[in-house]
Amino acid sequence: DQMPLVIFTPSGKRGRFALGTPVLTAARQLGVDLDSVCGGRGICSKCQVSPSYGDFSKHGVRVADDALSAVNAVEERYDRLRGLKPGRRLGCQATIQGDVVIDVPPESQVHKQVVRKEATARAITMDPATRLCLVQVEEPDMHEPSGDFERLQKALSAQWGIDGLTAPLPVLSRLQPILRKGNWQVTVAIHHDHTGAAPRLIDLWPGFHDGALYGLAIDLGSTTIAAHLCDLVNGEVRASAGIMNPQIRFGEDLMSRVSYVMMNPGGDREMTAAVRQALNDLAASLAAEAGIDARTIVEASFVCNPVMHHLLLGIDPVELGQAPFALATSSSLSLDAAELDLTAVNPAARVYILPCIAGHVGADAAAVALSEEPYRSEDLVLIVDVGTNAEILLGNKERVLACSSPTGPAFEGAQISSGQRAAPGAIERVQIDPETKEPRFRVIGCDLWSDDSGFAAATATTGVTGICGSGIIEAVAEMRMAGLVDASGLIGAAGQTGTSRMEPEGRTQSYLLYDGSADGGPRITVTQGDIRAIQLAKSALYAGARLLMDEMGVDKVDRVVLAGAFGAHISPKHAMVLGMIPDAPLDRVMSAGNAAGTGARIALCNLAARTEIEQVVGRIHKVETAVEPRFQEHFIAANALPHATDPFPELAK
Ligand code: FES
Repeated sequence: DQMPLVIFTPSGKRGRFALGTPVLTAARQLGVDLDSVCGGRGICSKCQVSPSYGDFSKHGVRVADDALSAVNAVEERYDRLRGLKPGRRLGCQATIQGDVVIDVPPESQVHKQVVRKEATARAITMDPATRLCLVQVEEPDMHEPSGDFERLQKALSAQWGIDGLTAPLPVLSRLQPILRKGNWQVTVAIHHDHTGAAPRLIDLWPGFHDGALYGLAIDLGSTTIAAHLCDLVNGEVRASAGIMNPQIRFGEDLMSRVSYVMMNPGGDREMTAAVRQALNDLAASLAAEAGIDARTIVEASFVCNPVMHHLLLGIDPVELGQAPFALATSSSLSLDAAELDLTAVNPAARVYILPCIAGHVGADAAAVALSEEPYRSEDLVLIVDVGTNAEILLGNKERVLACSSPTGPAFEGAQISSGQRAAPGAIERVQIDPETKEPRFRVIGCDLWSDDSGFAAATATTGVTGICGSGIIEAVAEMRMAGLVDASGLIGAAGQTGTSRMEPEGRTQSYLLYDGSADGGPRITVTQGDIRAIQLAKSALYAGARLLMDEMGVDKVDRVVLAGAFGAHISPKHAMVLGMIPDAPLDRVMSAGNAAGTGARIALCNLAARTEIEQVVGRIHKVETAVEPRFQEHFIAANALPHATDPFPELAK
């Protein structure tokens, strides 16, 4: 007489168990991913399973109707009070009485998959650092003089196999009343590190607590700070927001902030305080938007470039402003939120900062790598994360190279005569008719008068306030394609280009894109200066990519990924017409959205991903653009539209 066979789906894990073994116990022994917060006490309902009955020829079993024990009093009580879906059983209460096939639904799996909206992306597997556990702690006893915390440690070890618990003072100080209030039953939030550091007690509640825990995934950019508030159980993004980095008032770009520190003793402390304050404001507004208690935010992950990294940590960034661009530390960091003065979160919250790759290539680039995984790619992929600095990665599963290139803020609409951020009123897409040279465009937040394609004639448009990064890129590319601009980037005069929209300005020409002056609105032109600014930015981007291609010994790439908040809005064709990126089949140029932010989210939700990126970063080879003479050569040759010498055969197709 063999013991009953238990088969779990979808994992396919199977084993034989003694009659009367609870399903949860069988699942644990087989390593099946079945959740539990109450430790099998029939309280949390996280252990729900769906047994199947009948013939399972493919598994070679017949499941009798009584393969699981009948519903017991605990399960009956739970069902009566909270309701179980039809066919569901509590895995901790139902015991095995015969051969059985048991399905673990996604919501009962700890390591559930979170679908990402980008078409090419792999799902995020949940594997959060902080989890809830219900523990029954022994009461104190005159004859056994141990402390309440030591008895909690002992209970956690016996009931959950969690050894060596530590507790920061703010939590320890609340332990005694909470234990007594819960009559020695307590729900604890335990933080595990991926490095094997001792588990930490983050928070605790009397009795059974069934609240959600949240984390912040923060992309700390030089211009914008973007954050997602994520549910740490199901990975759902509950709120997202972006704010301006307040350090802008100390300097627009990274190097001007480093110079601010050099000129103003204590300037680094001012900037550190400013960014930390902004982070607290951001955390508070996200919590308010999602309607959650800031105390339930127990973790944060950060990605940032090296200068932002040092200023967040309160480290003087001057070394990053001069060769050899030494970082104070390039390793990942696990800290208490309190060490960064983050007060708008749980007082014991933990912070994870992704590792930096090198002095110019920061944790933001590491996060892009984590999100896009060039190190797993069969084909050679070029990833550009376009922002004030462009982070560039080139590689495949054999080898990955990285560099950073100073594109400046033109791609974000700054340094452009009518430039603005991507906000309502901004022209974001442009078409220019090659015959009539008349423009049509799409404006953020104004689609009242547009046709099916979303475009409207310039004359039919109102409410325009300026042009954003993607708009100016398309405008310049369309001007090139319509013959309004030559390969050197020079705008032709009205007589040469055949359009009355050309307006002479000194010795140069401007192309009138939009005239709202009749209604008191702006006149938006693309000036020769705008085109020069775009040429400088795109040359820097292209030169960085070419430098990596030289290092890799290739003259073409298989695929291009455009990342960055606005990478999502650049059309691949226009990027290539300008020569922002090297030639590649157009259908192999993809957008990845804010890949750095996604990388932060992955690191927040998945401990194994932290280990992975720490290992990967050590294998990424860094190329320094600032000291590489070929960078200058590539930069000059890339000034032409699309390029002085490099061919663009895919564009001709
Ligand atoms: Fe909590 Fe089953 S493990 S109800």
